[in-house]
Amino acid sequence: MNKTVLITGASRGIGLALAKQFIDKGFTVIGTSRTGVLPNSTTNKLIAQKLNLPERQSRVELAKWLTEKDIKIDILINNAGIGPDLGADKPEEESYKNTFEVNTTGTVFFTELILPHIKKEGKVINISSKMGSIESCGTTDSVAYRMSKAALNMYTKILTNRPRDTQEVAAIHPGWVRTTISESTSKNAPLSAEQSARGIIDFVMGDFKTGTFWNVEAKEEIGW
Ligand SMILES: NC(=O)c1ccc[n+]([C@@H]2O[C@H](COP(=O)([O-])OP(=O)(O)OC[C@H]3O[C@@H](n4cnc5c(N)ncnc54)[C@H](OP(=O)(O)O)[C@@H]3O)[C@@H](O)[C@H]2O)c1
Repeated sequence: MNKTVLITGASRGIGLALAKQFIDKGFTVIGTSRTGVLPNSTTNKLIAQKLNLPERQSRVELAKWLTEKDIKIDILINNAGIGPDLGADKPEEESYKNTFEVNTTGTVFFTELILPHIKKEGKVINISSKMGSIESCGTTDSVAYRMSKAALNMYTKILTNRPRDTQEVAAIHPGWVRTTISESTSKNAPLSAEQSARGIIDFVMGDFKTGTFWNVEAKEEIGW
């Protein structure tokens, strides 16, 4: 049976690699970007949709489109994220707000709108970061990014506690991956987006325990 995955932030990096690999596995992919355009979207298995997470209207439009098309989602992957203060010593108000608007507030309220469109046996995957692990934090940098992902982790846990939701939920650290999220990442990260996406898909398609925080790079659970 044809399965559908909705991936936010599918225009580049990990999201784009995920989109390509899910298509190869026979999925229909609904991929989002702020422009509503995705690279090489020539296959009818890839449906590009516009989404700017901080904008309520943009989130509502996408949910409305799902209703109009009567689309039921098998897997939601909240992948879109930004890290303007990655590596910075101190928080700066504007980038702090932007980070939370995308990584946390936008993602939470987008998910709330999409949950009714996800099949009961479906999955919700939040692409977090081990930088959001409170347990393993021993440093002072990237305040907004770390805090936004820690908050996303808490949302992941809360979703697993909701008795009305039967979907499986997990947070994933995708590894340190060469993408444009930061300058250092684009130059120094050991994993390609394709390698990371493969690890994410292996985990998502496997029989994971709901409420897991999973490190794709180390193939092990991370403490929250
Ligand atoms: N790369 C790493 O080493 C690493 C490590 C840990 C966690 N992560 C997490 O992995 C996820 C993907 O990151 P990446 O490294 O692949 O980053 P990336 O290459 O910079 O891609 C980010 C994606 O997010 C989308 N996006 C940005 N702002 C948005 C907004 N306002 N509304 C909706 N979508 C928006 C972008 O789409 P448009 O700009 O086209 O709209 C793009 O597709 C993020 O959540 C990141 O925190 C990455």
